[in-house]
Amino acid sequence: MKIGLGADHGGFRLKEDVKKHLLKLGHQVVDYGTDSTDSVDYPDYSEKVAKAVLAEEVERGILVCGTGIGIAIAANKVQGIRCATVSDVFSAKMCRQHNNCQIMALGERTVGPGLALELVDAFLAAEFEGERHERRVSKIMQLEK
Ligand code: RB5
Repeated sequence: MKIGLGADHGGFRLKEDVKKHLLKLGHQVVDYGTDSTDSVDYPDYSEKVAKAVLAEEVERGILVCGTGIGIAIAANKVQGIRCATVSDVFSAKMCRQHNNCQIMALGERTVGPGLALELVDAFLAAEFEGERHERRVSKIMQLEK
């Protein structure tokens, strides 16, 4: 799978761990930055990854900031994007199965690297279940109009 990664300074280290993990599993990775722990603004990275997903440059996105909150809020402002902040494996799976999220957000300061990689695996393995969830996700997308 081709996966887009983005992080601010608060998520840089975890993004690097996620990148190594994905490459080891044989995925393709497009890294939209940031590339150090120097202070940056997380909405810039949300925008890059969200637009790459919509342009189908990548199939899924993973965003990381300190908490996974700000970077997810910003991604969800890009029309057509569904991004969830997750810190448990069940939610990482359900945000795909029920909510059809294209992007998952992680917090480097809230989730340890071991759990984070399990969250990534769960997110990438799960598929949207459609049916009644299709109607509900369509209603979410209608709210953008
Ligand atoms: C940056 O200090 C921090 O605010 C950011 O990484 C994130 O946690 C915001 O939601």
